[in-house]
Amino acid sequence: MTTANPNIRALAAQVLFQVVDKGQSLTQALPPQQSRLQDGRDKALLQQLCYGVLRQLPTLEFFLNQLLEKKLTGKLRTVHFLLMVGVYQLIASRIPAHAAVAETVAAAVKLKQPRLKGLVNAILRNFQRQQQALETALASNETADAIKHDHPGWLLNRLKRAYPDQWQQIARANNQAAPMWLRPNQAKVAPQAYQQLLLDAEIPCQPAQPHGAICLDSAVDVQKLPGFSDGLVSVQDGAPQFAASLMAGQAGEQILDACAAPGGKTAHIAEMVPDLKQLVAVDIEESRLKRVHENLARLSLNATVICGDAANPDAWWSGDQFDRILLDAPCSATGVIRRHPDIKWLRRNDDIAKLATLQAEILSAMWKLLKPGGTLLYATCSILPEENSEQVKRFLHTQADAELLNINDRDNVDTPGWQILPGEQQMDGFYYALLRKQLN
Ligand SMILES: C[S@@+](CC[C@H](N)C(=O)[O-])C[C@H]1O[C@@H](n2cnc3c(N)ncnc32)[C@H](O)[C@@H]1O
Repeated sequence: MTTANPNIRALAAQVLFQVVDKGQSLTQALPPQQSRLQDGRDKALLQQLCYGVLRQLPTLEFFLNQLLEKKLTGKLRTVHFLLMVGVYQLIASRIPAHAAVAETVAAAVKLKQPRLKGLVNAILRNFQRQQQALETALASNETADAIKHDHPGWLLNRLKRAYPDQWQQIARANNQAAPMWLRPNQAKVAPQAYQQLLLDAEIPCQPAQPHGAICLDSAVDVQKLPGFSDGLVSVQDGAPQFAASLMAGQAGEQILDACAAPGGKTAHIAEMVPDLKQLVAVDIEESRLKRVHENLARLSLNATVICGDAANPDAWWSGDQFDRILLDAPCSATGVIRRHPDIKWLRRNDDIAKLATLQAEILSAMWKLLKPGGTLLYATCSILPEENSEQVKRFLHTQADAELLNINDRDNVDTPGWQILPGEQQMDGFYYALLRKQLN
C-alpha cells in the first residue's frame, strides 16, 4: 500500500489481520497504522472500525459465512477482514451506506487485490438486500450463544458458570464502548474543584464520585483537559481508582506497588499521601517502566522504580518489610474487554489456570515482604473467580497469619473480596481483596 493516500478501511483490514490471525494486541497493531494518517478524525475512524469489528467478530463471521461461497484464505485473508469492516459499517456505524460500500470497494485496490473489487461490491450489496433475513437467522435458537453474544465459547461458558443470572448483562457490557474517566490529582486539586474546571471548559461530566473519580459524558483529547500537562489530572477508569483509598496509606509509611506499570495506581497512592517514607514501584517489564517514569514526572511525584520479578523478590528487595503492599496482579483482563476488545480473541482458555498459578506465586512471595500488622491489597482487572475470590480463599486457607479485612460489608470468607462487574456504575470489571498479616 502506498503511504501517500492511505485508505482507512484497508488500514483497518490490516490491523484486524495482525490481531486475529497473527495474535498481536491492538496496542501493538493499531498505532503504526494510525501514524500513517494525518487527520485526527481519520485516526479516530480507524480506531472505531477496528474496535467495532473486534467487538462483533462472531456476528460478522456469521454473516460472511452465509454470503461467501468460498472462504477467503491465504493472501486473501485481508480481504476477508475488509469485508468485515464493510459489513460492520452497514450495521453499526453512522457512515452513509453508499459511502461505506464505495470506500470499502476502493480499499481492495489498496490491499493489492484489484480483481476482488467486484466480489467486495457484490457481497456488501447482497448483505444490504439480505440483512433482515440474516439478522433473523442470527437471533434463531439454532445459533450458538457465543455467536449471538459475540464472545469466544470458552469465555462465555466461564461467565455462565460464574454468573448464571448475570452473564448476558456482562456480555452486553463487554461489547459496549467504555466511557472516559478522570482522576483529579488530589495533591493539587479537589475533585469538586476539578469538576468545576471541566464545566468551565465546556466538558460535560457527571458529579465527582465519593472516591474522587469523574466520568465524562463523552471522551475528549487529553490535551483539552484543564491542566493535563501540569499534572492536574490523569485518565483512569473509576474502578481502579478505589485502590489508593483501600490502601489507606499513612504519612511515614513504606509502601510497595508490586506490579506497577504503567504506574496509574503508584501515582494515585503518591497523590493521596505525599509524605510517605518510601514508595517502591516494581514491574518485571523494563519497557513498561518507562511509562511509570513519564507518569510520575508529569504529576511531579516521586517513587523508587525497580525492574524486578515480584515472584522472586530476593533479587531486588532491600530486606525492609513494607507497611502496605498493593498487588495489582497480572491477570486475564476479562474485566476490561470493553476497553480492549482484542482480549476476547487473544486469550485462551488454558491461560486462566496458568495466570492463577502465577498470581498465587506472586501473592505468597509478596506476603513475606509485609510487616506483621500490615495490609496487602490484592487486585485484578479480571472477573473470573479462579483469579479472584477462589484465589484469595485458597490463600486464606493455606496462610495461617492471613486474615480477610471486610471491604464495605461487600465480602465474606466464603466469597472473599469485592467483585465489580463491567458496566456496574459505568466502571470496568475489577476485583479487590484486602488482607491483613496478623501480629506474631
Ligand atoms: C494489571 S498490570 C498493572 C497495572 C498498574 N498497577 C497500574 O495501575 O497502572 C500488571 C503488571 O504486572 C506486571 N507483571 C507481570 N508479571 C510480573 C512479575 N512476575 N513481577 C512483577 N511484575 C509483573 C506486568 O508487566 C504489568 O505491568
